[in-house]
Amino acid sequence: MTTERQSIHGQWSSRWTFILAATGAAVGLGNIWKFPYLTGEHGGSAFVLVYILCVAALGIPMMMAEVMLGRRGRETPVNTMRHLAKEIHTSPHWQLVGWAGTVAGVLILSYYSVIGGWTLAYILYSGVGTFSGASGEAVSNLFGKFVGNPIGLLAWHTAFMIITMFVVARGVKSGLEKAVQWLMPALFVLLLVLVGYAMTTGFFLKGLAFLFTPDFSRLSGSGMLAAMGQAFFSLSLGMGTIMIYGSYLPKGISIAQTSVSIAVVDTLVALMAGIAIFPIVFANGLEPGAGPSLIFETIPVAFGNMAGGTLFGTLFFVLLLIAAWTSSISLIEPAVTLLIEKYGMTRLHAAFWSGLITWALGLGTVFSFNIWSESTLFGLNFFELLDYLTSNLMLPLGGIFIAVFAGWLMTKETSKSELSMKGEVGYKIWQILIRYVAPVAVLIVLCNAIGLL
Ligand code: PHE
Repeated sequence: MTTERQSIHGQWSSRWTFILAATGAAVGLGNIWKFPYLTGEHGGSAFVLVYILCVAALGIPMMMAEVMLGRRGRETPVNTMRHLAKEIHTSPHWQLVGWAGTVAGVLILSYYSVIGGWTLAYILYSGVGTFSGASGEAVSNLFGKFVGNPIGLLAWHTAFMIITMFVVARGVKSGLEKAVQWLMPALFVLLLVLVGYAMTTGFFLKGLAFLFTPDFSRLSGSGMLAAMGQAFFSLSLGMGTIMIYGSYLPKGISIAQTSVSIAVVDTLVALMAGIAIFPIVFANGLEPGAGPSLIFETIPVAFGNMAGGTLFGTLFFVLLLIAAWTSSISLIEPAVTLLIEKYGMTRLHAAFWSGLITWALGLGTVFSFNIWSESTLFGLNFFELLDYLTSNLMLPLGGIFIAVFAGWLMTKETSKSELSMKGEVGYKIWQILIRYVAPVAVLIVLCNAIGLL
């Protein structure tokens, strides 16, 4: 009998809890806040098409690879990569992939938390009826005032970091899994309500056309990079989150099936958000390319003008908060487990220190919406630079290394037995995607976007 190694940080109780936790990590602000605004900025359908292609051809095989590495290593990504490299007698420098991912998680959370703070504030605004009957213009003005005040943003960012670290300090398993079980379906239902409202605006078809009419003339190199980066971001790939979640996964659970389910749910949520939001954008004469403010300017208008909107609007932002919360916890998990494994800290101390550093970095994002909004590098402010660096560069690059490691360096026997797919064909498809398609496609898109091709 083989003795199964377990992570010192714990293990999921079932396949279902893993799916919930990983879906919780995947579905977040990326789906509801970022996907619609990126789609708007990059002109709609072409972006959506590349995005879906990236999820199918790169995202799913990459997710399988990460879960597989995590489950085999059963440690924080840095140590997992180090040990797996040792197992196959290759360079210990592969641990750098783990380091880069861990840093990417901290960098992403530093701005993610600021936006998470916005959702907290919007729960309050909707709850007291601020948006009731409000026009698109009034809602936009309010948003401008809100982000223009650094002290307010700082307070909301701090509050969001505190609730995140509170859960992280206690370990992910007890509270969160249970919450996600109810809250994710509820978020889905509320999105359906919003889609229903969007249908009544008279601009529903225009919204659909914007999202789905193929228009390849709009396919720019930077749009393709953004779509690919967003696929990595939305599925939480390329940085070790899925690896660490995989390290808590019991043996004998199908990695392929779970990965496909997570990717499908994640994509459906993003598409539904787009289908709900663009008709409202057009009906109110708002700008689809408005950027990060997009959903904070459209959703309040929709709820402000429907019966029971105060209640539903508040509920919507509560659910968005939960989605952001379950993702933010996963973003910091590689850093927290690293501090525990490498420096012997308790979970509480590890949570405190990683949280503090992330919070401090977040100040840059807070100020980039107001007092530093004019300070730019390559035309991007601090927040935009951080987002570009992480989503568009660090995650796809991390993805290439993970693909090469899993596809080329790991032995076929190991990956085959870890993935334990039923048919030979499934394994072959995965192998082709992870060996050739993923690294080559990511490289081409990257080089094209930075002007090398
Ligand atoms: N996938 C999350 C979202 O869409 C963000 C995230 C990225 C979480 C990377 C973990 C790791 O909001």
